[in-house]
Amino acid sequence: MNKNLRKAVIAGNWKMNKTPAEAKELIEGIKPLVKDADCDVVVCVPYVDLSVALEATKGTNIGVGAENCHWEKSGAFTGEISADMLTSMGVQYVIIGHSERRTYFGETDVTVNKRVRAALDSGLNVILCVGEYLEQREQGITAELVSMQTKIALGGVSKEELKKIIIAYEPVWAIGTGKTATAEQANEVCAVIRETVKDLYDAAAAEGLTIQYGGSMNAKNAKELLDQPDVDGGLIGGASLKPADFAEIVKAASR
Ligand code: PGA
Repeated sequence: MNKNLRKAVIAGNWKMNKTPAEAKELIEGIKPLVKDADCDVVVCVPYVDLSVALEATKGTNIGVGAENCHWEKSGAFTGEISADMLTSMGVQYVIIGHSERRTYFGETDVTVNKRVRAALDSGLNVILCVGEYLEQREQGITAELVSMQTKIALGGVSKEELKKIIIAYEPVWAIGTGKTATAEQANEVCAVIRETVKDLYDAAAAEGLTIQYGGSMNAKNAKELLDQPDVDGGLIGGASLKPADFAEIVKAASR
């Protein structure tokens, strides 16, 4: 499959970091370093930073995303944000199904699918996260599990809508731990995801799908991971908070 047919996308996942003032400062730091990027660059920021991020990235090559959204359009869901609220502000991306949401906030494959559907209905680009725990890897069920997570999350998603989805393979044991999957491990699971999408849709859909690796990707290991045939980008946590490191990863993804 020809990797050059796919978009390379590097997205920062800031998690619960940065006040609005700090967010502005971080984006101002990133902007000049990534302006010539030959890949798509996105920053996914806390809800309260979205306004500042949208303002600071106006006229630049940096897209802005949120870190989650609810599946209903409005209603009695204290603490949640709807996809329409995000698009009304000009937000273009949303992360759905991050393992921290699944682990700490009880999100399941079924609610992940509902959120994916709502995000697509609102016109958002979705960064859909899948990945295994260490115990599951040790049990040898990574491929089955990730394939199943992918299938459930994409339930009711048409081939046309799939064009708005990026899948991020994030082995949970590698997130924020400094442990990275080897380039081969990362590629192997990204290839499983692509195969799953091929089974669900067809070869063209699979070939066009951008798949990111996430889990302690940094300035040093990015190139090797991104050089893998099925790894098209990265979802970056810790290193996305450091402009020089983030820019180095963007450089490694540029084609
Ligand atoms: P990390 O986080 O790069 O800090 O491991 C990645 C993620 O959770 O998206």
